[in-house]
Amino acid sequence: MSQQKNNPLLEQFRKGYKQPVQDQPGAPGLQEKLDPQPLDDVTADGKPYKAANKLEGKAALITGGDSGIGRAIALLYALEGADLTLTYLPQEEKEIKDVEARINAKTGGKLKVVTIAADVRKESVCQEVVKKHLEAHGRLDVLVLNHGTQESNTELPTLPTEQWHNTFDTNLHSFFYFCKAALPNMGPGGSIIFNASINFAVGHPELIDYTATKGAMIGLARALSNQVAGDGIRVNAVAPGPIWTPLIPATMTKESKESFGQSVPMGRAGQPIEVATSFVFLASADSSYISGQVFHVNGGVVIN
Ligand SMILES: NC(=O)c1ccc[n+]([C@@H]2O[C@H](COP(=O)([O-])OP(=O)(O)OC[C@H]3O[C@@H](n4cnc5c(N)ncnc54)[C@H](O)[C@@H]3O)[C@@H](O)[C@H]2O)c1
Repeated sequence: MSQQKNNPLLEQFRKGYKQPVQDQPGAPGLQEKLDPQPLDDVTADGKPYKAANKLEGKAALITGGDSGIGRAIALLYALEGADLTLTYLPQEEKEIKDVEARINAKTGGKLKVVTIAADVRKESVCQEVVKKHLEAHGRLDVLVLNHGTQESNTELPTLPTEQWHNTFDTNLHSFFYFCKAALPNMGPGGSIIFNASINFAVGHPELIDYTATKGAMIGLARALSNQVAGDGIRVNAVAPGPIWTPLIPATMTKESKESFGQSVPMGRAGQPIEVATSFVFLASADSSYISGQVFHVNGGVVIN
């Protein structure tokens, strides 16, 4: 504990640490505006992430790779040797350039990294992303559906119906479109990983539509895993608790921002790297006997 207090890098891992409350004008938020910056390649012992070529020779498609959890997944996958396709929204152009530059700096530019601006609410866009990925890499081993959006609402009768549809189009229907386009191009050893949320289990009262999409995607992961297990393809989900990313200042209520991360047993928000390590495990052969499961990366909340 005293070691943590003397190391500014480790401060965000300390129980009781609270990121200062800050605002961004709606989703998607921007990582460059976050203070402090989230940790995406430093582990809780203050050391750089240690890679072991776990994804060498693989090609991964990661949605929302510009910031937050997706950025950390992209960095760790690159360190583990995977070629990448990263999607982002047009307004996140500078963010994705930062990610690309960091990957090239860390890997000596030896990996193929393709970036695609794509609003994935339309099926044709998801099909195009998969097509471009295959044209660039010639194979698809890992599909990480990480993108997502949320907007707060405290009284269901005032929840705009357009918001309900938008949340489902973004967080759920696109998952179906991506899986449909990707599966015929995946084979034995393939891994599909969804970024869900702890809210599917605890039912966030300010995020009703978001919570519903996260529950539905877990049902999708379980059913699909049973359908494709015989083809050697695994489907799993990760359900993060409160994680310090641009989504938080951009979408939470003032009250939720003030208490962010404090209610979980570890008493702090998690860092993107603490979620991304599960995505490495689920993508690699280390998890070859695991499918249809949900990993709870949430600071100690017990989910049965
Ligand atoms: N931060 C948390 O506390 C937390 C907790 C549980 C789950 N999650 C999930 O983690 C995932 C990543 O979020 P994050 O917290 O890293 O925030 P983030 O804002 O950094 O990432 C969200 C990403 O979603 C993408 N996106 C949003 N709408 C899109 C659209 N219409 N088309 C294409 N891409 C779109 C954006 O490019 C953005 O990069 C989300 O699915 C989120 O629900 C986050």
